[in-house]
Amino acid sequence: MKGIVLAGGTATRLGELTRITNKHLLPIADYPMIYYPLKALESAGVQEVCLVTGKDHASRFIELLGDGQVSDRHGKKVFDLDITYRMQVRPGGIAEAISLAKNFANGEKTVTVLGDNIFQYPLTQYIEKFKTQKRGGRILLWKPENASAYGVPTIDETTQRIVEIQEKPSSPKSPYAVIGVYMFDPEVFAYLNNINPSARGEMEVTDLLNEYIKNSVLEYDVLEGWWRDAGQSQKELYEISKLIYDTGVQI
Ligand code: DAU
Repeated sequence: MKGIVLAGGTATRLGELTRITNKHLLPIADYPMIYYPLKALESAGVQEVCLVTGKDHASRFIELLGDGQVSDRHGKKVFDLDITYRMQVRPGGIAEAISLAKNFANGEKTVTVLGDNIFQYPLTQYIEKFKTQKRGGRILLWKPENASAYGVPTIDETTQRIVEIQEKPSSPKSPYAVIGVYMFDPEVFAYLNNINPSARGEMEVTDLLNEYIKNSVLEYDVLEGWWRDAGQSQKELYEISKLIYDTGVQI
């Protein structure tokens, strides 16, 4: 299983904080934001990771993370990863960013984590389940306060299967958010050929997930512990840092 971490995009919701830097390099508790999704993969045993970012700040990621063997200022190992980089020339959407990792995936299953997603617990149990899943995709759901800020699944009451996902709906059809962890079989790169840019000019991950749903091959788990999307607002960056300290989350 290979990992993909997305750290491109425009981050307009974070105002002045992202005028001269990339969102994923901003601090959350004691570390740059990007450390958290990378650690989430490493803790689950995913060692080969492709980091996708835009051209403006790509060199800062290379400076920070190098080849993936990272030690802190005291010489303590922070990451023991093998990182490959891909550049997304303009923010064409999450699905487009995933498509850039096709050669990196080289026919293997992948797990993509959004670079601004922070989790209380490691993702190990879900990734282990996906390893034994014969085909299709697997996503994680979580009940946030305001589902309409996220991708939201419609779940059939009888079968308990997801029948559709809507991106930031004004009237959510369930209380769940689709969080930024997307596990895909190698067919993902064929499905990516079937989707077109949305009205806002992006290839939407929700459209990609709906392709899996059409083929009845999308499974899900409900995430245990807390989850946050750190791209929502400046205040959230502070709230998440506090949550990390209060709940003792370790890198
Ligand atoms: O966090 C979960 C949510 O993430 C999901 O519930 C939504 O369905 C999904 O669309 C996404 O929504 P956001 O509005 O939070 O997406 P955002 O534009 O903030 O991008 C999420 C991450 O993906 C962020 O870390 C940057 C990266 N990204 C985004 C775009 C649009 C890229 O690397 N390239 C891109 O072109």
